[in-house]
This record gives sequence, C-alpha cells and structure tokens, in this order.
Amino acid sequence: MLHPVILSGGSGTRLWPLSRQNQPKQFLALVGDRSLYQETVLRASKLPGAQPPITVCADDHRFMVGEQLQAVGIGSGGILLEPAARSTAPAIAIAALHALARDGEATLLVMPADHLIEDEAAFRAAVEAATGLAHEGWLVTFGIRPEYAETGYGYILRGDALGEGGFRVERFVEKPDKPTAERYLAEGTYAWNSGMFLFGAQRYLDELARHAPAILDAARAAMDAAKADLDFTRVDHDAFAASPSDSIDYAVMEKTDRAAVVPVSCGWSDIGSWSSLWSVAQRDGDGNRYEGDVIAVDTQGSLVRASERRMIATIGVEDLVIVDTPDATLVARKDRVQDVKAVVDKLKSAG
Ligand code: GDD
Ligand code: MG
Repeated sequence: MLHPVILSGGSGTRLWPLSRQNQPKQFLALVGDRSLYQETVLRASKLPGAQPPITVCADDHRFMVGEQLQAVGIGSGGILLEPAARSTAPAIAIAALHALARDGEATLLVMPADHLIEDEAAFRAAVEAATGLAHEGWLVTFGIRPEYAETGYGYILRGDALGEGGFRVERFVEKPDKPTAERYLAEGTYAWNSGMFLFGAQRYLDELARHAPAILDAARAAMDAAKADLDFTRVDHDAFAASPSDSIDYAVMEKTDRAAVVPVSCGWSDIGSWSSLWSVAQRDGDGNRYEGDVIAVDTQGSLVRASERRMIATIGVEDLVIVDTPDATLVARKDRVQDVKAVVDKLKSAG
C-alpha cells in the first residue's frame, strides 16, 4: 500500500522573520488559509489508495502538527518525533521502519512539506506511473523542467526509457556549483529533482544498508527503543542523535544504480525564499503582492507584508521585500533575499 511520508523537520530560515525556530515556514499560512504542511497532507489524502500520512518532525513541533492535522480532518498514519535534526536520510529511514511494521509491502511516497503543486491531476498521474516502477524495485524521483541555474536543487540526467513514462537515472548531482548548474541548464538534458520520492520501504532500507549503513543502524536502534504515545512515536534520543546527518540526495540518490525518474509538469514550486513566494503569489498589475495594511504609491515588483500591529507605506520603490512582524522587520532587495540566511546566522551566533 502507498504510505505518504511528510518531511516536516526543516527550519526554513530564508523566510525569516516570519519563519522562526518555534514556527517554521511549513506550518505558516503563506499563500491562502492553510499551511504548506496542511496543503501537503490534503494533496496526499487525494491519492487513490493512499494510507493516512506519516509525519516526521521535530519533537518541539508535535502540538502544531497534531492541531494542524486535526484542523484539516485527516487521520494520522503516525507522527514520528525526532529529538534532533539529522537531515532527510535518517528521517525517511525511521518512516520506512514504522511503515514496514504495519505493512510488510509498504511503498513510500516521500513529500517535503514546503512545496506547492498547482496541477494535482498531473501530480496524481505521475505518482501512478512511479508506483508501477517502484513495484519493479526502482527508487523513483520526479523530474521538473529546470527554469534557471538554481544551485539549491538536485539535477537528474535521464538515461534509457523504462516504460510507465519513466527513465533510468544516468546521473544524480545534488546542489552543483553555479558553473555546473549553468552547464546542465545549457545542455537541456537535465531535470531538477523535485525532492519527492517513491519507492518500496524495504528497497530504501536495502540501499541504506549498502551506501550508508551507519544511518540504518542508528534508525533501527532509535525505533527499537522508541516510545509510543497515542499518535506520536518518540524516537530514542541517544540512538537517533548518533546517526550521521545526511540527506537522501547525498546518502542514497547520488550513489544508487536503481534510481528512476518520472518527468512531471504539475506547476511545482519550492517555497524556499521570499522571492519564490513572490513569484507564486497573486500579484497586482504592477507586480506587487501586499498582505495586511499596506499603502503603496508608485511601487513595483515588491512583496510587502504588514503585521497586525502597524501599516506599511511605500513610495517610489521597486523590487523590494518588506516583511514586518511584532519584533523584527526585514527590508531587502528582492534579488538578495537568499542572504536572509546570513541574518539568521548572525542572530544565532549573537545568542
Ligand atoms: N523530519 C525531518 N528531519 N525533515 C527534514 C529534515 C530533518 O532533519 N531536514 C529537512 N527536512 C525536510 C524539510 O522540511 C523539507 O520539507 C524537506 O525535508 C527537504 O529538505 P530541504 O532542506 O528543504 O532540502 P533542499 O531544499 O535543500 O533539497 C531537496 O529539495 C530540493 C527541491 O526542493 C533535495 O531533494 C534537492 O535535490 C531538491 O532539488
Ligand atoms: Mg527545500
């Protein structure tokens, strides 16, 4: 059976000051009334035959996850609480062990909680194709046509056709440097990795055993000593903390020879930064997106988000991001918002 696994452990630092340690971006209603996490849960629930989703998140976020699940009326396939963040390879490993304990034939659909998908029918068709390939033992990725030389994504070079609309992965390169990303874009033969994956749970564990055995050992030990508490599973602290910290992309996808890619065109976007949020949001004729109490005069191409506490007025500016919260305000050029991470790093080192 198909078990959606929602990865919800990231911190989303590039959406500071809205996204904070105790309220990361996936739990915020950034576009519309529901959070990205809730949108992901609902998308998963509409897949034919899908089991209730398994959420993997930080222990600190358990109440938020519980409440947000309940608010959309979706049952839980389990909420696995990580005592420390060890990136996605261990998070998926504990989800695989959890699913296999209930369903020896479990197939996992791994879904990051920070994406938007506009065309759900196209997404469902791709999942169906991927499910067929997963049953043949493939670890399936979903390939997105690249738009620019993004260095924060994985790149997939497709090989021979496998049927079901899928292809063997010839090469998987996670987060290439800028010149390499530019070359891949120019070559026109690479796809972006969407960050979603579909594979047999056991197949994933087998690949971990081959390419990252220390992660598998730590995940097993952490689940063997886990404590169940209603929908929650508290993963053992010491065992999980002993896991190497690595993403599925580096630990498995770059190394395995069993990777396949299903190309999909489903209006996918990764809400990684204020500029990506601006680009997916509804904008007025001058390319502006306003939220809250905003008065703008002669303003273009900007995202302005007022907090409940005060209004924001802009005059004669363009391509800015202005985000106000009760205790912090960001003013940045839209093409520099990636550097919000530098602000957060400074804040952290200042304690
Ligand atoms: N539970 C858990 N624990 N979730 C985590 C952890 C963790 O330690 N670390 C990250 N996540 C979650 C994030 O919340 C996000 O939903 C998802 O896992 C992916 O992590 P990111 O940190 O956002 O990865 P990325 O954006 O750098 O790269 C991935 O996604 C790209 C597309 O958005 C890779 O798969 C790339 O290859 C891909 O192109
Ligand atoms: Mg991401």
